[in-house]
Amino acid sequence: MSAAAEQIVVAIDGPAGSGKSSVSREAARQLGFDYQDTGAAYRALAWRCIHEGIDTLEPSDVIDSLDSFEWSIGINPADYFVRVGSHDVTEAIREPHVTSVVSSVARIPEVRGYLVEQFRAIIAQSTQRGIIVEGRDITTVVAPQARVRILLTASEEARISRRSAELTGVSAQATATELSFRDTQDLRVVDFMNAADGVTTIDSTDLDFEQTVHAVVDLVQASTPD
Ligand code: CDP
Repeated sequence: MSAAAEQIVVAIDGPAGSGKSSVSREAARQLGFDYQDTGAAYRALAWRCIHEGIDTLEPSDVIDSLDSFEWSIGINPADYFVRVGSHDVTEAIREPHVTSVVSSVARIPEVRGYLVEQFRAIIAQSTQRGIIVEGRDITTVVAPQARVRILLTASEEARISRRSAELTGVSAQATATELSFRDTQDLRVVDFMNAADGVTTIDSTDLDFEQTVHAVVDLVQASTPD
C-alpha cells in the first residue's frame, strides 16, 4: 500500500461538554471519513445494565454481562445510530439516568479491555480513507499511533452552558453538578484534561461550532498528503 493510500486515523479526546461528538461527526462528514463515538458504547452498556437489572456497582455482574452484550453503532456520520440487541437506543443513552451510571461501568478494567479491542476492530474494518475516533483515551490507549491526535478542551463554564443547551428539562445547576461529578469519576481512570506528548490542544472556549470544526479539519488536512 502506498503512503497516500494508508488509512488516516484521527484521535480526539476531551471532557464532557467539550463538543467532541458533534464536532468530530461534522468534521468527518466534511472530510468524507467515518466517525466512531466510543462514549456511546460505554453508554450502551450502561443502558443495557439498567434495562436488564444488572447492578452497575457490581463489577463481576457487569463483566459477566459482556458475553451477551450485542451492540452496534453507526460509523457513517450521515447515518448515526446506537443499537443494543433489537433496541434503537440512540436517544435513550443520553438520558440522565444512563449518564449517571456510565462512569461506574467505564471504570471496570475488563470492560475497558473488551471495548478497546472492539474499537480497534471497528477502525480496522472502516473502508473510508480515514476515521475520526473520539472519546477519553483515544490519543493514549485506543489509537496512540493515530496520524492526528487532538485534545479538545473548553472552560468548565462553556462546557456547562453547551450541555445545558442540549438537555431540555434539566436545570443548569443540575447539569453543572453532573458534569463535574462525572469528570471527577472519569479522571480517576484516564487523564483527558492534559495533552499527552505529541497531542495538539484545541481550546474551543471562544470558538463557535463551525470554527471548531474548521480547526479540526485544518489540522487533518495539514497532516495529510494529497
Ligand atoms: O458526551 P460526553 O462527553 O458527555 O460523554 P460520552 O463521550 O458520551 O462518554 C460517556 C462516558 O463514557 C464518559 O463519562 C466516560 O465514563 C466513558 N468513556 C470512557 O471511559 N472512555 C471513552 N473513550 C469514552 C467514554
